[in-house]
Amino acid sequence: MIRHEGTLYRPPSEADSLILQATIGCSWNECTFCGMYRDKRFRVRPLEELAAEIEWARAALGDGPDGVRKVFLADGDALVARAGFLADLLRALRAAFPRLARVSCYASPQALQVRSVAEMAELRELGLTLYYLGIESGHDAVLERLKKGVDAAEMVRVAAKAHAAGVKLSTMLLLGAGGRDADADGRPGSLAHARASAAVVNAIQPRFLSTLVMTPVEGTPLMEEARRGQLPELSPPELARELRELLAALAVDGCVFRSNHASNFLALAGTLRKDQARLVAGLDAVLAAPERAPFRPEWLRGL
Ligand SMILES: C[S@@+](CC[C@H](N)C(=O)[O-])C[C@H]1O[C@@H](n2cnc3c(N)ncnc32)[C@H](O)[C@@H]1O
Ligand code: SF4
Repeated sequence: MIRHEGTLYRPPSEADSLILQATIGCSWNECTFCGMYRDKRFRVRPLEELAAEIEWARAALGDGPDGVRKVFLADGDALVARAGFLADLLRALRAAFPRLARVSCYASPQALQVRSVAEMAELRELGLTLYYLGIESGHDAVLERLKKGVDAAEMVRVAAKAHAAGVKLSTMLLLGAGGRDADADGRPGSLAHARASAAVVNAIQPRFLSTLVMTPVEGTPLMEEARRGQLPELSPPELARELRELLAALAVDGCVFRSNHASNFLALAGTLRKDQARLVAGLDAVLAAPERAPFRPEWLRGL
């Protein structure tokens, strides 16, 4: 059977995928907001263990018409594992599941730094066609505060490597990460964070973009900031204003946008640029009458 070690995280769009933990934890594990893998020491799992799980899934789920079509490789940055290991894993998946249409994984900026374009292209040929990347912010001061490990220019550079390898990117931004107003702690303010984030997304031209609301979780430096009363937490109308600024400044083609992650107050969806004017107008309506806006109640939000 498939053994999942610790809590398993996957993007909302991988709900119906087979999830295999190719790696355990996150090789970076420094981001101040992220508590997902703090209790795990990073390691790559032995291929034999994964091969046994693939064989179990083939026998249990079958390789016929209803067999596995999508696989997500966990944990936090499986792309950082050696390319030869990932290639062997992808070959095993293709052999077991003839109907396999796509394999995806999280790709941190650090993983994109170590993988070459040629390696990513080879892995794409073997089926690894989509990476999820947390851009979080396009503002250098925010990226530094969050300890993302790269600045905006480096984020754009490494994302371009995936693009050059023909791999699709599904990117994430953190609403609220810029604070409310520019402050002495180096936060640039909500609208500056939104504009800088739009500029980086425009430079990357991802296939998918989603926003999450930065939420303090237990065991993280961000939670400590919140406990000290040093974290400006934006209200739903303030977050809607930030999202409006972001959406209005985006210039991306054929990008599927979603704010449907459970951390959001407003669930929006559309394709940019086609639906951009509608999404911005919807947010203008929310901002004009926030008391009538369909904000998700706090108790329904989660991570
Ligand atoms: C597994 S991580 C990201 C993938 C990859 N490791 C990276 O850094 O690019 C998944 C995403 O969840 C979001 N996330 C993590 N912790 C969060 C928090 N406390 N509040 C809101 N979103 C969070 C971030 O956008 C993060 O990029
Ligand atoms: S956001 Fe990504 S890179 Fe940062 S600690 Fe979490 S999993 Fe690791």
